[in-house]
Parts: sequence; structure tokens; C-alpha cells
Amino acid sequence: MAKTYVVGNFKGGVGKTKTVTMLAYESAVKKRRKTLVIDLDPQGNATSVLGRTGGLSAVTKNVTDGFITGNLQNQITKVIPCLDIIGASTSFRTLPKLLMSKFPDDEDQQMLYLKTLLEPLKDQYDSIYLDVPPTISDFSDNAMMAADYCIIVLQTQELSLDGAKTYISYMQYLANNYNSDLDVLGIIPCMLRPGGRVDEDVLRAARDLYGNNVLQTVVKYQERLKAYDAEGIHINKTSLGYEDSWDIRAHKVFENVLDELDENQKKLDKYREGELNE
Ligand SMILES: Nc1ncnc2c1ncn2[C@@H]1O[C@H](COP(=O)(O)OP(=O)(O)O)[C@@H](O)[C@H]1O
Ligand SMILES: [Mg+2]
Repeated sequence: MAKTYVVGNFKGGVGKTKTVTMLAYESAVKKRRKTLVIDLDPQGNATSVLGRTGGLSAVTKNVTDGFITGNLQNQITKVIPCLDIIGASTSFRTLPKLLMSKFPDDEDQQMLYLKTLLEPLKDQYDSIYLDVPPTISDFSDNAMMAADYCIIVLQTQELSLDGAKTYISYMQYLANNYNSDLDVLGIIPCMLRPGGRVDEDVLRAARDLYGNNVLQTVVKYQERLKAYDAEGIHINKTSLGYEDSWDIRAHKVFENVLDELDENQKKLDKYREGELNE
């Protein structure tokens, strides 16, 4: 039975899509988990990156048609073994209109539509990652309602901390009022410039505010991670058959992130069980 993760921050360009695509890749390739990425951002960045990763000329099936027909199953595209995507295109910008016409005057139904659509897919997967645009909108509401856990991406800049704070308090509001099971699984510090004063200050402020929720692993800026946007995610082999050391480095950091998130999930699940038994 799949667990669903939404990666968020109400700020753009902080590394959300990078995190979704890399975590999904490590989940599929290193952990051999059956993994699905659902791109809920009309910009379709995760769709392009994973399309290239699978050597696909285009990802034509898309989430918009899944929302229109009420069937996501038909919109799944295979990327590599263990990794599938439901892609997005600009047509998905019409989501608010679509929800209004499907469920006029029923805000709850509008917010819960993705959750409903995901149910029949859960048997096929271990992990489902949701990539969302950086707005408080029908897109993020649907993703948060459908998710079991939130993963927050924190770029070590003042405004990203604000974006993360807003995201966490909004998530708590939704959790209190609608989806009480939603919890923060971890806060990932991203693209820290070592020695940068603001970066170090923001990281410290985040650790003061959120304690152990902030992961020990810091995702630093790496050219190789950037290059995967255009090249697709890969691990090249040298002529002697060794894995390229820059690829190893790029992947290792997200393997560490995934390990830490797994640990947090175990602790959280234990805690939830304890609460249930009380
Ligand atoms: N650790 C990193 N090292 C290098 N480039 C990165 C890193 N994280 C993200 N990027 C780049 O920064 C840009 C914004 O990242 P992205 O994941 O698309 O942000 P978001 O989804 O939050 O808008 C992209 O071009 C991406 O390749
Ligand atoms: Mg993005």
C-alpha cells in the first residue's frame, strides 16, 4: 500500500522539483521501491526531467485527462524499471475551473478529488511523490489532502524560510480542519553555499525553530544536479566500468536524505500507533 509524499514550500526555485525527481529516482533505483511521481505543476518540469531520464521523446499522457475522466491509471507513463510518472502540461492550469464544474458549491469534494483518484493506484506502488507549484491554491490543497507526509524544502535564504513557515502553518491548518494524519516528515536544507553568512544564519534559525525536523544532510549546490535538468538523471560509467564520481556524489546526497526521511517516518508511525492505542 503506497505512502504519498508532497514536497512543498510556498516559494519557487528552491529545489522542490529537484527533490521530487531525485528522491523518486533513489527510491526506485537504490531501494527498488515501486515509485510513482505525479506532476501537479502546469510548468511540467518534473515531467520533462523524468521524460529525459527514461529516454522518452515526449510524455503525452497527462494528469489533466486523468482529472477530466476520473481515471489516473490510464495516464501512467513508464520511465525506467520501478519508476513511473503521471505527467503535467500547461493544460493543467485549468484545474480550478475543472474542479468547480465537477463539484459546484462543494469545496470539500474539490479539495479531496486527487485523494479519491489516487485510491485505486495505491496497491501498485510503494511510494508516490507529488510535485506542486509554489502557491496556496487548488493544486497544493489537493496534494496536501492526498498526502500522508509533507517534505519541506528549505533553501537557505530568508524568503525561503518564510515560504517554509507559511507552508507549515497552512499544512497544520489543513491537518486540523480536514486531514488530521498529515505530518511533516522532514525539512531539507537545499543549495547552501558553504560559508555564506545568510545561508548559515537561515539554517541556524530553521534548526532553532524546527529542531530535529531539519535534516542533518544538507543538499549543496552541485553542477551535476543542475545538469540532470537537461540530460535526465543518470549514473554514467567510466571506460573502466566504474560509476562516474560526480554522479556518485549527486546521488549520494539524496540517498542520505531518503535514509533520514525513512528513519523519521518509522519514528512518526510508531508515535501515531502509540496515539491510537492510548
Ligand atoms: N542542489 C542543487 N544544485 C544545483 N542546482 C540545483 C540544486 N537544486 C536545484 N537546482 C536548480 O535550481 C533550479 C530550481 O530548482 P527546482 O527544483 O526547479 O525548484 P522549484 O521546483 O522549487 O521551483 C533548477 O534549475 C534546478 O536544476
Ligand atoms: Mg518545481
